[in-house]
Amino acid sequence: MMNAQSSANETDQPASREIRIGDRVLPSRFFLAPLAGYTHLAFRTAIRELGGLGLATTDLVHATSLLSKNRKSLELIATNEIDRPLSIQIFGSKPDVLAAAALWLEDHGYTGVDINMGCPMAKVNGQGGGARITCEYDSACELVSRVVNAVKIPVTVKMRLGWDRDKLTAPELAAAFEQLGAAAITIHGRTRAQGFGGSVDMDGIRQVVEAVEKIPVVGNGDVRSVKDAQSMQKTTGCDAIAIGRGAMLDPWLFRRLELASQSKDWDFEPTPDEQVHFLRRHFRLMTGQHEEYSCKLFRKFAGWYGARLGIPEDLENRLRRFDSFDEFESIADEIRLRHGERESTVATALVKVPNGPVERW
Ligand SMILES: Cc1cc2nc3c(=O)[nH]c(=O)nc-3n(C[C@H](O)[C@H](O)[C@H](O)COP(=O)(O)O)c2cc1C
Repeated sequence: MMNAQSSANETDQPASREIRIGDRVLPSRFFLAPLAGYTHLAFRTAIRELGGLGLATTDLVHATSLLSKNRKSLELIATNEIDRPLSIQIFGSKPDVLAAAALWLEDHGYTGVDINMGCPMAKVNGQGGGARITCEYDSACELVSRVVNAVKIPVTVKMRLGWDRDKLTAPELAAAFEQLGAAAITIHGRTRAQGFGGSVDMDGIRQVVEAVEKIPVVGNGDVRSVKDAQSMQKTTGCDAIAIGRGAMLDPWLFRRLELASQSKDWDFEPTPDEQVHFLRRHFRLMTGQHEEYSCKLFRKFAGWYGARLGIPEDLENRLRRFDSFDEFESIADEIRLRHGERESTVATALVKVPNGPVERW
């Protein structure tokens, strides 16, 4: 069944403003999709400061590790008052453990839990987690049911269209998860077998939208611009959009989408000062949490930011290798001086995925 909110979305403008997920009212319909290794507190905060973001979700956090207070897991869920609204994404295959992790999060003041059922990586799938869960209807339902029943806060699920073209399980699962009490579904319009290749299947997303009765469906995959978002909303009827890599390629994308949804001019160009300020701000926020280690963590943003932030390619290369705060500051100073010298507008980032057939990831 087509849900009520989606019919309002079928205009040329992205649907605007608030959206309700369970008892949460989110200020916009444009969400930050989880990107393991990137969507840490610093990135979330820096993006929020630019405006337009409706919801951020953390990197996937292993439920068992969280319950054993593993240091890395605690780092991933670190947050502050500005970092709102936030959902914590958990993964694993054992319903008891996921339910306990969700309860622990609720007891510690978190207001949303997302279950990862989309991760294609072998180390996650091999333990029965991520996309693997969607292959077993009963187990998937049990898992969602146990987590939903363990907490009062809204529980959402993020998944792919299915394992492969022959097993497009998402519509059936989305309908079942809604009946079990899931508050929203995020659907990445690819199968697990596709990894990050091929194109996003809009029709597949639409089938998920049509399979649920009331809960919001969040479309996801390859949205890089206002036009992409408009096209996804129009062709799928999704209620909201989650953007991952597009947020690194254009950190102002959420603001643009919000402006477009209010029929305001969204096609602005941040000034060179604003662009370099964003770069410094993200790094400084990172140092607040990760100290010296930030130099290493920040390097992998270089390829995503280079083209958008007008960073000359030799300086982008230096950003990939720097190892001190002073070096960062001198690179940032030089970027400001030489801003715009860069000719290519194509980002040099490559998503790091293992080589070879997806079965061996
Ligand atoms: C580097 C990387 C890390 C990711 N980590 C997660 C994750 O932790 N949890 C998750 O549900 N999806 C994860 N994803 C998938 C994204 O959330 C998203 O579904 C996918 O990238 C498609 O959306 P996009 O084109 O807007 O990036 C990851 C994707 C990438 C490229």
